Amino acid sequence: MDLVYNILVALHLLGMAAVVGGWIAVRAGRTVIAPILWGARAQLVTGLALVGVAEALKDEEHHVNNAKIAVKLVIALVVLAAAEVGAARGRKGRDTGSLLDVAGGAAVVNVLVAAIW
Ligand code: HEM
Repeated sequence: MDLVYNILVALHLLGMAAVVGGWIAVRAGRTVIAPILWGARAQLVTGLALVGVAEALKDEEHHVNNAKIAVKLVIALVVLAAAEVGAARGRKGRDTGSLLDVAGGAAVVNVLVAAIW
């Protein structure tokens, strides 16, 4: 179970890298590129799975801070919604406005919440 948890942490970090790295790479543009969208989806799935495994293990190393997770969940939904709508608009050739920056910026906020809280 520990191995499963650690693999989930690795996937969670790779998802974060896809969203934040993708955003940094295309920040001058307006396109929500595929890695940002898939990374945002991955963050929700791996984050929820991490909470599930941590709840199942419930030992010294794995305890869930519910307030922190609730905040991260809401921010992750903002990231995902901005990425989904931005990508859909891009596919239709419509302007994505600031949705790319909302997705990337909110993901960075979630990194700060994860690391500092
Ligand atoms: C854009 C969305 C997200 C980003 C950028 C993000 C980022 C991160 C980062 C950088 C870490 C590592 C922090 C550390 O090891 O101290 C982390 C850990 C974690 N995240 Fe997220 N996260 C996101 C969404 C979520 C969601 C939606 C959940 C749950 C609903 C979640 C649950 C967790 C948990 C449980 C850990 C702890 C892993 C450990 O034991 O170190 N995250 N997150």
